[in-house]
Amino acid sequence: MTRPIEMRPLSPAMGVEILGFDSGTRPDADTASLLRSALDEHQILLLREQSLDTDAQIALLEAFGPPLVESDDGRRFQYISNTREDGILGEGCLEFHSDHAFMEEPIDTISLYGLEVSAGCGRTHFANGLRAARALPQPLRSRLATLRARHIIDPAADASSVVCRGPRLPDTLPHALHPILWNHPRTHEPILYVNEQQTDSVESLDGAESRALLEELFAHIHSPAFAYVHEWRERDLVIWDNLALQHARDASGHDAARTLRRVSVGGTSVIEFFRMADGKIAHRNRDTGSASSARSRSMTRDA
Ligand SMILES: [Fe+2]
Repeated sequence: MTRPIEMRPLSPAMGVEILGFDSGTRPDADTASLLRSALDEHQILLLREQSLDTDAQIALLEAFGPPLVESDDGRRFQYISNTREDGILGEGCLEFHSDHAFMEEPIDTISLYGLEVSAGCGRTHFANGLRAARALPQPLRSRLATLRARHIIDPAADASSVVCRGPRLPDTLPHALHPILWNHPRTHEPILYVNEQQTDSVESLDGAESRALLEELFAHIHSPAFAYVHEWRERDLVIWDNLALQHARDASGHDAARTLRRVSVGGTSVIEFFRMADGKIAHRNRDTGSASSARSRSMTRDA
């Protein structure tokens, strides 16, 4: 007899642990609908102790939309790893970001599966932009209603840097403008959509005013009331809403292995991004004298 699916809250700020569901089995239509509703309501789904091969992870994510192509060879997954030669993002910390915020269509849903995780290694921090938007004081909410922020990628920069505190980055780099209060595409609820790694300015404000507003919003969204920190275990599957949440990562350290397998859904794939942006990035790398390829640096910057 099949055990019914149960949900247990992960934290007051977001997330549920899903119990009684084998993620290695392609979900039927009712289960897929339940999972989508749970993600829209709670923003993170955690499934522990899953035996999940690559095909099964891709099949499960199809419940949320078509998985994105991650590389030139057409594969729809990527390794986030400090041990695999074919992995990306190494072991350094990553500041808060939303994957592909600098594109017109950021990624919609991200999943990571814990293949190899040393104890205490490379925690993932989440901040909930939906809850942060709900809690904005009314005068600030009114001020934000018509403002947009610019999100940008600098392939030559350190991924642990905080963009808005540096000089304004040139318009030649890939960037996008999004409403600071961006309505969620499915729930239509406003998300506070600014992050420290990719948001460099507020449109129509001068430099000092823009930085002051962003600092105020970062302080708000990083309140403990909107935070959850995931301590990885092997065989964890974490699925999250990349628009509603922003995420960051602790450094892993030299002796700690960390390999997670990523499958993402919705938005613009990294392959399309490189097709659009390669000329600009190549130009930037010539300017900065960077010896690294545009591709490897960009992939290290945001994921
Ligand atoms: Fe990321």
